[in-house]
Amino acid sequence: MDSGLPDLRELLLFYADAGVDEALEDSPVDRFAESAPLRRNAGASGGALRQDGPSPRVGEAAAGQASSVPAARGSRALPPPVRPEPAAAVPDEAQAARARELARSAASMEELRELLAAFDGCNLKSTAKTLVFSDGNPQADIMFVGEAPGREEDLEGLPFVGRSGRLLDQMLAAIGLDRSSAYIANVIPWRPPGNRTPTPIETEICRPFIERQVELANPKVLVTLGGPSAKVLLHASEGVLRMRGTWKSHTTASGVTIPAMPTLHPAYLLRNPAHKKLAWRDFLEIKAKLRALG
Ligand code: URA
Repeated sequence: MDSGLPDLRELLLFYADAGVDEALEDSPVDRFAESAPLRRNAGASGGALRQDGPSPRVGEAAAGQASSVPAARGSRALPPPVRPEPAAAVPDEAQAARARELARSAASMEELRELLAAFDGCNLKSTAKTLVFSDGNPQADIMFVGEAPGREEDLEGLPFVGRSGRLLDQMLAAIGLDRSSAYIANVIPWRPPGNRTPTPIETEICRPFIERQVELANPKVLVTLGGPSAKVLLHASEGVLRMRGTWKSHTTASGVTIPAMPTLHPAYLLRNPAHKKLAWRDFLEIKAKLRALG
């Protein structure tokens, strides 16, 4: 019985190494029951049917037999089948290579969003509720890139809608911008479980998509919010507190160079309000640059 179990074991070990230690849903989900119809169909006779414990989903999954296996005498009618969720991908260099190829092939922002939505090569997708692609105006002169969605972003499918998003909106307003005059995205488009830090390979898998997103948006000015975004898009090796406030550049795959300002992440500013004055200086620089570039 192979049924993808070695892959699953590897993924679980990977999660354990990454420090994932919290339940993701309010109640447990029996994944074996969900995939039971598939495994039954894969087996010739279906003789190896598991006797899974009772749960609403088990009941749903068992319905896979309703049309082919007569219900036992006295048993209740079986509910309709549940489509099993796809097994999560094990993040590796092969997935990163696939991501690079896919992202390169996107001819428009809409196509990029569709490719990303269909991409199953990043394990983060399997634990997130939604794809958080972008908000704002992709034709805007300025693009902001954060790290990864949090809980509220995951629920709404939009970046920066939680507490740090509200602060970002205030920072935008302070220099005369809003979401109709700015484009907003994240390096990682799926919420990492429990808001943990994305692993290096997860970041490598997501990198080609955000790079292509910047290339397609082609803003006059790019702003990275926080260290991880600066690291990915500006290849920064120093800390964001050291590099913030000075202009850097981001060069796209097609060789276009975009002036880029690394600044502090709004979530960091919520925890360290004394540093808001530093971000304010950065935003004044950004405003001046936008004026200068017309
Ligand atoms: N933090 C981020 O980096 N991005 C979001 O979308 C929300 C919080």
